Amino acid sequence: MRIRNKHRKSSAFHCNAGSRWSYLAIWSLTGFILIVYFYAHIHQNDKQDILVHLNHLVDTREMEKVEREEFHFSPPKDRRSPRAVKRKGPRKPSTIIREFLDASSQVHSFFFPSKKTAISLIKEGNDSMHFYPGRLWLDTDGNPIQAHGGGLLYDDNTETYYWYGENKDGRTYHAHQKSAARVDIIGVNCYSSKDLWTWTNEGIVLPGEETNVSHDLHKFNVLERPKVIYNGKTDKYVMWMHIDDVNYTKASVGVAVSDSARGPFTYLYSMRPHSCDSRDMTIFKDDNGEAYIIYSSNDNSELHVGPLTDDYLNVAGFMRRILVGRHREAPTLFKHQGIYYMITSGCSGWAPNKALAHAAESIMGPWETMGSPCVGGNRVLRSTTFFAQGTFVLPLRGLPGTFIFMADRWNPSELKDSRYVWLPLTIGGLADEPLDYNFGFPHWPKVSIYWHRRWRLPEGWRNEER
Ligand code: DGJ
Repeated sequence: MRIRNKHRKSSAFHCNAGSRWSYLAIWSLTGFILIVYFYAHIHQNDKQDILVHLNHLVDTREMEKVEREEFHFSPPKDRRSPRAVKRKGPRKPSTIIREFLDASSQVHSFFFPSKKTAISLIKEGNDSMHFYPGRLWLDTDGNPIQAHGGGLLYDDNTETYYWYGENKDGRTYHAHQKSAARVDIIGVNCYSSKDLWTWTNEGIVLPGEETNVSHDLHKFNVLERPKVIYNGKTDKYVMWMHIDDVNYTKASVGVAVSDSARGPFTYLYSMRPHSCDSRDMTIFKDDNGEAYIIYSSNDNSELHVGPLTDDYLNVAGFMRRILVGRHREAPTLFKHQGIYYMITSGCSGWAPNKALAHAAESIMGPWETMGSPCVGGNRVLRSTTFFAQGTFVLPLRGLPGTFIFMADRWNPSELKDSRYVWLPLTIGGLADEPLDYNFGFPHWPKVSIYWHRRWRLPEGWRNEER
């Protein structure tokens, strides 16, 4: 008894201490299991990414090569008279961006090479099917493609790609002394292609308005960044675009509709989405057929995202403010393995600046900023998005996780001579530095845009979804 009691006592004592220890042990074990689980889960995702990556390696190796670029420019000549130099002192060192924008500079002609180097069907040979970011790109008639601030649509009905963009083939001028360079509205051009390299001009599918000054599309207004999506329910092609007045104070979106991808489009109306100012914008059609608009608002200080109505002709009632206070524009949206990605630019008019990649689990946010997606080239190329500004990201149907990043290299001294910078974009490359609050694990797969002077799509890129 005594022994038992003693034993009981001592066992009771032990039991108390033991229970503390066993609680501790249980919690430690649970913690350990949780850590192992999360680690395995993250690793599993990594593994999946690696598998997807390996799967792609065969096809996309060339596109994912990190290509370094070096350029050396002699400093610009000071063309001022010795008296002016004496009076005003030596000129401030010019930044490369200022040089890039100066039509008379060596830097400018480097980034806007002459027609002699144009990408042309007629020349073909070794250059056939190769993209040369920044070179003039000619259509099947031998004319420079005019589809700026554009976007692509793959039309299942005709198994054809359509490229819609601003026709800027007019005179560049300044409406006021201090206003940005502009070209009058000519209209939205459309080009068609089966291979993304050979483009046939389908003409102006939404023309500007010559005489009616109260029309949104009157030539003295602004029409930018047209994008088209197809609505399966109504069997209509719907175009959304940024509509503005000459001073960018109307800050609205316009909507147009067509029965065919090749137009013509009928202009319906403009509006301020959710009663907010809206400048750079894009639309995005999700896998389930729901479509969304994303636009820079509140004087470009934030972006807004909200669903469109079922017919894609209007905004549904609600929106979310995202990247508040970040001052981003030129949004381009894409999706991979259930995650939404966005590339944006800073706000510096026609001058290039550094792109940022963002990711979210829901298109309505919250959106996290990951950093610059630009890889290769050199520091200057990366910090200027290769001297360009994004306009669209095209998923390559046969290569999940691989996209084409489409950007405009604006030429504000001659806007019609702005160039196209198309580069491969992949998801799942080497991860960015982990964010502090991710406890050491990078939360999002890395978005990479690879610099290439010359590149092509790999064999088999057109294969159906694997
Ligand atoms: C930057 C925008 O992204 C372009 O679409 C255009 O609006 C220019 N600003 C005008 O300065």
